[in-house]
Amino acid sequence: MSWIPDALNQLLVSLLAEKGPFDNLIEIGSASGEGTTAALLHGMRVSAPKARLFCLEASPLLFQQLAHRYAQQPQVVCLPYFSVEPLTFPTADQIRHFMQTTRTVLRHYGVDRVLTWLAQEEAAYGQHLQGISGVAHIRDTYQVRHFDLALLDGGEFCGHADLEAVYGARLIVMDDTKAFKNYAPFLRLEQDPAYRLIALDPHWRHGYAAFERVV
Ligand SMILES: C[S@@+](CC[C@H](N)C(=O)[O-])C[C@H]1O[C@@H](n2cnc3c(N)ncnc32)[C@H](O)[C@@H]1O
Repeated sequence: MSWIPDALNQLLVSLLAEKGPFDNLIEIGSASGEGTTAALLHGMRVSAPKARLFCLEASPLLFQQLAHRYAQQPQVVCLPYFSVEPLTFPTADQIRHFMQTTRTVLRHYGVDRVLTWLAQEEAAYGQHLQGISGVAHIRDTYQVRHFDLALLDGGEFCGHADLEAVYGARLIVMDDTKAFKNYAPFLRLEQDPAYRLIALDPHWRHGYAAFERVV
């Protein structure tokens, strides 16, 4: 299966090669599975053939494509759930304040557009609730206490909840550290003595970073 060797995907493959052993990986926000998911699976094939990858994708349409793409891959478990339920979204005022006080890629888009995304994400959330918290469901069903690697690339407005849900993972990789999604989660882990920063690119893909738990 092919994968796109962009910088984040290459980082995922090299983490798998260098930071084993791996039993359980989780990706929050897999979309149709052709990006980071394919890179993770490639890295697993080479370096961790017995590991499992849990993929959470909340959009029903993208989930269908994801599930179809990996239907023949028993190591990949695709689940159509939101990472966390219930989710608390930021208010419009909080987003306005964030955009006024914090220099991130969101400024290119303007407040009105970002507030439209917030409304769309909240509406999608309201429409597709399943009464299941994806991460908690995986922990319970597959008996996973701590993930070996967690990739946080889900909703733009729920990065804080996603980090909380996977906190304790041995490796945490975040996309969009220079957007709302993982701006605060990045700062939280950067200041957390339990984690150390092991990779950072503040520009590519609106910023990405990887942390390793040290205690
Ligand atoms: C930026 S895309 C992921 C891209 C993918 N990681 C890649 O690089 O190939 C974010 C995805 O997260 C999904 N999503 C948003 N909120 C989510 C949540 N709370 N739980 C699971 N998936 C979520 C969206 O439907 C969207 O497909």
